[in-house]
Amino acid sequence: MSEVLDVEKTIDKWNETFTSNARKPLQDLSRYNTETLEWLMMEHFQFSFRNCQFLWDAAQTAAAFDTDAVNKELVRNYKEESGHAALYKAALLKVGSDVEARQEFKPTTHFLDSIGKLCHREPSFVLGLMFATETAAIFEHQVFRDVSVEVISRLAAGDAGKPLVGFHDLHLEGVEQSHKDELGIFLRDIYAGQHVVSKQDNRPTIYPQQALEGGREGIDLMAEWWGKLFAEMNEMSKGKMVHAMAV
Ligand SMILES: [Fe+2]
Ligand SMILES: [Fe+2]
Repeated sequence: MSEVLDVEKTIDKWNETFTSNARKPLQDLSRYNTETLEWLMMEHFQFSFRNCQFLWDAAQTAAAFDTDAVNKELVRNYKEESGHAALYKAALLKVGSDVEARQEFKPTTHFLDSIGKLCHREPSFVLGLMFATETAAIFEHQVFRDVSVEVISRLAAGDAGKPLVGFHDLHLEGVEQSHKDELGIFLRDIYAGQHVVSKQDNRPTIYPQQALEGGREGIDLMAEWWGKLFAEMNEMSKGKMVHAMAV
């Protein structure tokens, strides 16, 4: 008999499936020309830029819970993240990627607008959604650290690339793990089969099905977005391998 997973572990497992699939096209970065990798970093910046608004809106939604613990955690996360987009932007510019010069990629707009809307759903749904995006953030900083190192090496950017690698390292040295864990606490030891889990200590009353639904919808949107990013990257790098190798 397979073990019945709680809500935290269930969303974790879904996320693991999504991220292990999304890692595959990025295992061999020599497939892509430098322009494509720079483009990908600028698309990821869009998420970083909008993330503060998501956290803020999610915190407002979480204020409707019957304890303030989730709201407080999301506000803490919001405060930690505010200022990060500016750091990221400056670090990208140092290696020649100007996010201001970026042209809109519609699937990114669709993805971000969709997540934005979901931040206004039920509090339990939003808790699951934010837990899923914070879990994926670890994967993102890992893969974008690798992409950054690759781009910096191709451009022979040397020291100019240090803030960019440092930006990802900062997140990987505990920031994202803590964002994930501090939300995960609220989803621990609660199960899909329970209609409602009453508040206990600082944990609010939670509807497990809604939390699972939030996690699922968030992960599906992320998987869809990454699928579109990869398709575009393949198009952009088509027939340009000689160029990529020469850079
Ligand atoms: Fe950040
Ligand atoms: Fe985070």
